[in-house]
Amino acid sequence: MENQNTLTITDNRTGKTYTIPFTGGCIRTMDLRQIKKDEADFGVMGYDPAFMNTASCRSAITFIDGDKGILRYRGYPIEELAERCTFLEVAWLLINGELPTPEELKSWEGSIKHHTMLHETTKTFLEGFRYDAHPMAMLISTVAALSTVYKDAHDIFNKDVRRLQMTRLIAKVPTIAAYCYRHSLGYPYVYPDNDLSYTENFMNMLWKMVEPKYHANPVMARALDILFILHADHEQNCSANVMRSVGSSQADPYVSLAAAAAALSGPLHGGANEAVLKMLDEIGSKDKVPAYIERVKKGEVKLMGFGHRIYKNYDPRARIIKWTADRVFEITGRNPKLDIALELERIALEDEYFVKRKLYPNVDFYSGIIYQAMGFKPEMFTVLFAIPRTVGWLAQWEEMLLDPEQKIARPRQMYVGHDVRHAPEKTASAMLSATA
Ligand code: CMC
Repeated sequence: MENQNTLTITDNRTGKTYTIPFTGGCIRTMDLRQIKKDEADFGVMGYDPAFMNTASCRSAITFIDGDKGILRYRGYPIEELAERCTFLEVAWLLINGELPTPEELKSWEGSIKHHTMLHETTKTFLEGFRYDAHPMAMLISTVAALSTVYKDAHDIFNKDVRRLQMTRLIAKVPTIAAYCYRHSLGYPYVYPDNDLSYTENFMNMLWKMVEPKYHANPVMARALDILFILHADHEQNCSANVMRSVGSSQADPYVSLAAAAAALSGPLHGGANEAVLKMLDEIGSKDKVPAYIERVKKGEVKLMGFGHRIYKNYDPRARIIKWTADRVFEITGRNPKLDIALELERIALEDEYFVKRKLYPNVDFYSGIIYQAMGFKPEMFTVLFAIPRTVGWLAQWEEMLLDPEQKIARPRQMYVGHDVRHAPEKTASAMLSATA
């Protein structure tokens, strides 16, 4: 029975047969290296642009079954976590593997509150951005700049030091995000309020004006908390892969996380939520949806917020977001863009083009509509994604650091350029005059 868990490969170039073991349903591509044409041959490599079929790690954090539309953090279904937990409980779960006990939660919430303040020089740093700077670019740069404040961050294999940076990042990213928002509006920054929960405090830093105490609307605070839970991790997506890849060089967590946030900012990843709103603006009204769908099918534009590398079924997060949107709209009034979005979804889910390609709404399709109803400008949407994803990036980063199989991430390539060739010879005096 033992040798049934193997793969037999015959190399038709040589007629030789190789038996390769399966490890957790995968073969190790390093096992292909033994397959050689002759002794001088390097051996077979896998070629997989965009990692379509390559597992880069073993991970115990997040499970996705894209065909069935299942998402679980540490084994818990996302629907249960969204309904029964707070974001900070989920953050603890993602990092530590278990939900916190009441004592652990109390101490975790206390630690996060303790670290929400930014060093005043970081505030001054933020002041240097132009008033119209994109908030995501401000966030990325400011997170990287935290590396200049916390010099101990390089000590990444010291658990206490590493966990301190992780706590600092989870605590400070909302403060940076809120400051970026206030900066773009020209409003003074609001300091954190430790009486408030994680999400309420974020709302306080965003929206407090001259009132002595900010009181968050509990429905809005819970909606934001749910949105944070839904965005907290998503296994080996583009930005998590960047976090692991940059972190694998043993760079500190601030600069690694800034790189991950940069990956998130692109319109094919977390930047899609901003792009969805721009698309809905461009469409303008429900009756223009069919014409837009035709443009998508002709390949002129993409339907932003649709499609996913892994989900070939309804993204479970999109379903929860739709439910949350209804709760928010009871407070804010219905966002008129929702009608356009619902019509887009209705037509797309019936259309052969989308059905054949298994394209469904993803997390970004409806999140922007809620954020806009809450009063955010589209430029802030990806920043709102980055706050909770900070937890996922850190959990992935720590798992990578502690995995004895991981080394510096360094893919191979298939070189397709010129064979050796030679630059034209020049005299020494010609070189001197060229560089003078
Ligand atoms: N609109 C129209 N056609 C699409 C779309 C779309 N949004 N997404 C995929 N397709 C088509 C694509 O043209 C291709 O068609 P064909 O087989 O005829 O060439 C087919 O579907 C397969 O697409 P793909 O580009 O090979 O798929 P991928 O896994 O490389 O890309 C994706 C995944 C998310 C980048 C892509 O679906 C996309 O660009 N979606 C729009 C942007 C978006 O909403 N991104 C957020 C993703 S979820 C949150 C996150 O990760 O941050």
